[in-house]
Amino acid sequence: MTSDQRFFDFLKERIGLDVTSVGPAIIERAVRQRSAAASAQSADEYWRTLQASADEQQSLIEAVIVPETWFFRYPESFATLAKLATKRLADINNMRALRILSLPCSTGEEPYSIAMALLDAGFKPHQFKVEGMDVSPLSVDKARRARYGKNSFRGQDITFRDRHFTAEGDGFRLSPRVLDQVHLQVGNLLDPALLVNEPPYDFVFCRNLLIYFDLATQKQVFEVLKRLTHVDGVLFIGPAEGSLLGRLGMRSIGIPQSFAFSRQSPAESESLPAFVPTPLRVPQPLRNVLAPATSKRPFTSTARPVPPANTGNTDAARLLANIAALANEGKSTEARAACDSYLRSHEPVAQVFYWLGLLSDVAGSVLEAQGFYRKALYLEPQHPDALMHLAALLQSQGDTAGARRLQERAARSERAADSERKR
Ligand SMILES: C[S@@+](CC[C@H](N)C(=O)[O-])C[C@H]1O[C@@H](n2cnc3c(N)ncnc32)[C@H](O)[C@@H]1O
Repeated sequence: MTSDQRFFDFLKERIGLDVTSVGPAIIERAVRQRSAAASAQSADEYWRTLQASADEQQSLIEAVIVPETWFFRYPESFATLAKLATKRLADINNMRALRILSLPCSTGEEPYSIAMALLDAGFKPHQFKVEGMDVSPLSVDKARRARYGKNSFRGQDITFRDRHFTAEGDGFRLSPRVLDQVHLQVGNLLDPALLVNEPPYDFVFCRNLLIYFDLATQKQVFEVLKRLTHVDGVLFIGPAEGSLLGRLGMRSIGIPQSFAFSRQSPAESESLPAFVPTPLRVPQPLRNVLAPATSKRPFTSTARPVPPANTGNTDAARLLANIAALANEGKSTEARAACDSYLRSHEPVAQVFYWLGLLSDVAGSVLEAQGFYRKALYLEPQHPDALMHLAALLQSQGDTAGARRLQERAARSERAADSERKR
C-alpha cells in the first residue's frame, strides 16, 4: 500500500497534515499499521473501514501525530512570558485574570510549564488561567492524568521538578496547585467553530504544528491564531516557524530564543525589562540517541547514535559524542566551539555540519542553518536528520517543491534502509 492519495487527502482535510511537509513514508507507515490492526486485506478495504468508522479515523490520526514535547521546551520563551505577563497585568490594571492558550498542548507539558513559570514568577492563582487544547484525545487524557516519566524532564535545569512534582513509582506527579491553573480539552485548530465564543487570549502558544502544514493551511490557521490572540497580545511559535509569521505580517518582539511575535511595533518591546538569555536547549527529537521504535512517534527524528569508536578513530568518535552531549545539555556556545574544533583537527563529516545547522536553526539563524544542512548533505546525501530539517526550513519559507524533493529523498533512503534490514 504505497502513496495512496486518498489517505493523504483525508489527513490533510482532517488535521491539516501536509504530505509534502512530512513526507509520504510517515503517512504510509501509519496507514500500514492501522490497516494491519483493522485486518484489512487491501488499501480499498482499509479505506472502506476508515470511511465507516469515526473510531478508526481517530486511530489513524493518533498513529500519525507527533506528541513529542517536554517541560520548559525553549526555556527563554517562558522567562519572556513571565516578564510580558507582569507588564500585561499592569496594563489591564489587574482587572481580570490573564488568559493564556496552549494549542497544541500535546500531553500537557507546555500548558503546565506556563503555569509553573507564572507561579514561580510570583503570580497568584487568580491572576491567570491556562487553556490547553489538542486534536488528540489520547494526549489530552494523558495531560489530565498529569503523571510524567523522565523523558518529560530534559535540559540542564530541572529544579522545577522538586518544586512542583512528587515522585510516584518510576514517575512524577504534578502538584494540584499547578494542575488547577490549567483547563484541558480536545480541539482541532482547523475547526471553523474553534473557541468562537471565547474572548481573545493575552498569550497564545502555537508551537511545532505549523511546520506540518502547507502554505495555504498555514495562512488559514494564521487567521485563526490572529483571531484568538488579543490585539495587544503575543503569539509564541516554534523556532522553525518564524519566517512564516514574518511574511504574514507579525513582528518578532525582538527577544532572542523566545520566538515571540506581536502586531505591535518592535519599539514597544524596548520597554520590557532587560532579558539575559540563558543557554539554548536543543530539542529532544534531535538528540543523538535512537528514538524508541514506537508507532506513536512517526515524526520523531531518525537521529543516529554517535558512530561507534572504530579502531584508529576513537578521538573523532569521542569528539562527536562530546558535541552531542553539549548540545543536548543546552550548552550551545560550547557545542559550537566543539564543532569548530572538530573541523580544525579532523576531516569534515556530515554529522558535525548537521549539529551546526541545528544549533543555528534553534537560534533562529535560518539562512546559516540552511547552509550547514546543505554541507551535511553534500558530504552525506542521505543524512536523515539533515534532510528532514532542511525540508522543514524550506517548507516554512514557502519552498514547497524544494521541501518535497528532500522529503522524497528521505523516503527513498528510508525504504532502502528498510529493505536492507529485511535482507
Ligand atoms: C509536536 S507536538 C507540539 C506540542 C507543544 N506545542 C510543543 O511544542 O512541545 C504537536 C501536537 O499537535 C497536535 N495536532 C496536530 N494537528 C492538530 C490540529 N489540527 N489541531 C490541534 N492539534 C493538532 C498533535 O496531536 C500533537 O500533540
